[in-house]
Amino acid sequence: MNRKEGMVCCCFLFLTVMIGIKIENYLVDTQPIIKNVPTTRKVVALTFDDGPLDKTTPEILGILREKNIRATFFVLGEQVVRFPMLVQQEIMEGHEVGSHGYDHMNLTRLTAVQVKEQLENTENLISRIAPAPTLFRPPGGNYNDTVLKLARDRGYLVILWSIDTSDWRLHSVGKIVSLASKNIKPGSIILLHDGIYPSATPEALEFIIDNLTRQGYEFVTVSDLLDYYEEKR
Ligand code: NI
Repeated sequence: MNRKEGMVCCCFLFLTVMIGIKIENYLVDTQPIIKNVPTTRKVVALTFDDGPLDKTTPEILGILREKNIRATFFVLGEQVVRFPMLVQQEIMEGHEVGSHGYDHMNLTRLTAVQVKEQLENTENLISRIAPAPTLFRPPGGNYNDTVLKLARDRGYLVILWSIDTSDWRLHSVGKIVSLASKNIKPGSIILLHDGIYPSATPEALEFIIDNLTRQGYEFVTVSDLLDYYEEKR
């Protein structure tokens, strides 16, 4: 590469990074919470909550590996303490790890100090073994202004979901698959769980992936999904 090409390459890289930062700032400024990402591209994000759990997470990781798909895991601090190796495996296999708080408390019932502790403890536990999380999903999807402010003050994007598979309470593979596919559209964020056992989720996951792949969808992590953000005209 000559000097001129090098300059062009640097500029391109700079612009790409700036556009990335701009989109992220725009999202933080305009959307206190993100449920899906407006886009025309057929991309969706699979997200798994409440893990890691030795009985379910390895099976889910195996399916994702086999299908060559990257997903996002919203982990609980108390589970990170129990199964740190699984968090490391998630990262090593190209997945994203976000925070889901420490022990799945309803954060709207806690004091600001307690919410801060939930965020801080989980962040510290993840950061010891994986990249510091930038995404936060409040347990049960419960949030209020205090929760949002504290999460955003720590630099988090607050991520919910647009497709709820109800896999934590349903044990029918067919039902979970149909709920996952029913209202799917470009930019959807799909809620699943790897922190439950027994669970129909691993079996359902194979069908969900195959179904959506047949419909032309690709699977990306939540952070990658944000890059597909298109401003509505
Ligand atoms: Ni949860």
